[in-house]
Amino acid sequence: MHNAAFAKLGLNWRYLAFEVDPKNLRAAIEGARTMNFAGLNFTVPHKLLAMDMVDALDASAKKFGAVNTIKFEAARNGKCRAIGFNTDADAIITALDEDLKIRLRGAKVLLLGAGGAGRTAALRLAMAQVAELFLVNRTRSKAEVVAREIKKRCPSVKVSIGYPKTKIDLLLNATSLGLKPSDPSPLDETKFSLKQTRAVYDMIYRPAETRLLAAAKKSGCKTANGLGMLLYQGAKAFEIWTGKRAPVPVMRLALEKNIYDR
Ligand code: ATR
Repeated sequence: MHNAAFAKLGLNWRYLAFEVDPKNLRAAIEGARTMNFAGLNFTVPHKLLAMDMVDALDASAKKFGAVNTIKFEAARNGKCRAIGFNTDADAIITALDEDLKIRLRGAKVLLLGAGGAGRTAALRLAMAQVAELFLVNRTRSKAEVVAREIKKRCPSVKVSIGYPKTKIDLLLNATSLGLKPSDPSPLDETKFSLKQTRAVYDMIYRPAETRLLAAAKKSGCKTANGLGMLLYQGAKAFEIWTGKRAPVPVMRLALEKNIYDR
């Protein structure tokens, strides 16, 4: 999506993917800085490690405790500073708004997963002033840690562990269950019926329709997969690096073509 965006804007830039062993992350960041890269993106497990490897953290990275984007920028002393950003968290909100037209303020949300993506989603939803968050995770203790953090940082949001007994507005899957065709659904339908939610968002975008989304559609829910999240975290990173508005439709088309071969 970035290369399509660079081409659209006539920028002679390139976005390249490198596989870096976590033990070499610091060296990789220094290498990129030395070679005058404009910036970097990270994925798991580098997002947490990179927090300690930048010269400054933008408020977005401080808030969510994870860096998925670095911008290298010239400092006054002639050196180059690495600034860490988080563009994942806001992308959740933009994607939910665009794809599901959900009013998050005051909403009741069931969130599946309390790993990196789950924690970021939970915090960002709490900051968007949802009324109530239900957290479910295979490892309950991780959901409890996230719940405690939300209670501390967003005390007006009601948080509980476990499935809701009432109707909700949104079910969001932030687990990795569904990536493989053999994966079971992340939702235990003996404990919560899809009839009890208006909408379902699955952060997974490949396959385009997970088992969870197929079942949700059958139950009449509004559904969307995680492509919008991928798109908007990328669009924001593009804007941070280039200082130009991201050509979002071009980026979306590039994603659809490359991911779904459309
Ligand atoms: P990410 O950064 O993408 O969130 P992660 O931090 O490894 O990756 O989190 C993966 C999430 O998927 C976790 O919520 C994990 O549950 P645990 O905290 O219990 O590990 C969940 N997950 C992964 N495999 C799962 C499985 N087979 N059954 C249920 N949940 C699973």
